[in-house]
Amino acid sequence: MIEYLPLNKINGRFLSSYQESLNEIISGDNLILGNSVEKFEKLFSDYCGTNCCVGVNSGLDALTLILKSYVELGKLKKGDGVIVPTNTFIATALAVIHAGLKPLLVDPNPETYNLDLKDILAEINHAKAIIPVHLYGQLCDMGEILSVAKTQNILVIEDAAQAHGAENENGQKAGSFGHAAAFSFYPTKNLGCLGDGGAITTNDQELFEHILKIRNYGKNLDGNYSEIGFNSRLDSIQAAILSVKLKELDSDNEVRRKIAIRYCSEIINSKVKLPTIKNIKSHVFYAFVIKVENRPHFIEYLTAKEIGFNIHYPQLLKDEIILNNFVNKPSKSNSDFSANIISLPLHPLLPETDIKKIIDAVNSY
Ligand SMILES: Cc1ncc(COP(=O)(O)O)c(C=O)c1O
Repeated sequence: MIEYLPLNKINGRFLSSYQESLNEIISGDNLILGNSVEKFEKLFSDYCGTNCCVGVNSGLDALTLILKSYVELGKLKKGDGVIVPTNTFIATALAVIHAGLKPLLVDPNPETYNLDLKDILAEINHAKAIIPVHLYGQLCDMGEILSVAKTQNILVIEDAAQAHGAENENGQKAGSFGHAAAFSFYPTKNLGCLGDGGAITTNDQELFEHILKIRNYGKNLDGNYSEIGFNSRLDSIQAAILSVKLKELDSDNEVRRKIAIRYCSEIINSKVKLPTIKNIKSHVFYAFVIKVENRPHFIEYLTAKEIGFNIHYPQLLKDEIILNNFVNKPSKSNSDFSANIISLPLHPLLPETDIKKIIDAVNSY
């Protein structure tokens, strides 16, 4: 069986370093926050190229705390519209709702699956913020998004949960383009920990200081409480795991790119549409998503060949009934691809024999 993502093997590479980090934490006295979290925050902000990073409990919390903070700091008002693509994980829209804001759902470009300027422009007059999601690991066109946001004087908050290490042609990394960015370290992510974890990167000092407080009950450095806060701290053990894994992120992403390049050049089948890749460095292939004719049949076919797969995502957010009362939906659809997409196995430990089997299987479908 070719597993979609063998997390035990991915983490197995780091066991002795994990053990060392764990020993340090157990023998020290900072089980919550302290050195381990501060060390990772510094490493990760340096990696992304931002001045600040705050470790939090999850990607959902990272997005929610950014948006809530901007409401509390007076940069957004309750009920303001926030542009969110319809093809993303539900967390992107939930964060907007939790912050008392209104998701304005916009169809993504059906080729890149990312937000497109013309679709943003259709909603721009109702929006006070945009959340570009670097979906599947591919950077959105941040140049055009930032320039339209600047003209309208609205906030840009990157959802970089799937794009750790993706960079543009100038080497600028995901998480450093907008006013702030949210990352998830959910175990399946390119940089994943051994449980839940997330982070916010930003150059906005005021936002940074606010989130430092509200992730920890609203507590000031002097021990008093000045905000109605949360408990959303990145766990010290997870931070230590992430510091170990961050060292391998670039080389892992490079392996992912090499496999993606092979899929793109060797998968040739008129029933299969390959992803559109704008610039190889701008993609870190969290998911390699193809479109296939007759997906139910393709799933049976892969299953018979013992090849794992995933679907990102089975349903567009505009079709999620639970969101009906909370969102504005796009008026006309240009992207009903959710019935055809399927993600093939792609990870840094995928052996050559499996790559070949996957390519052969897709070609003979
Ligand atoms: C695009 C996107 N946004 C947000 C999240 C939420 O992250 P988490 O699961 O850590 O809350 C995820 C991951 O699951 C995601 O893929």
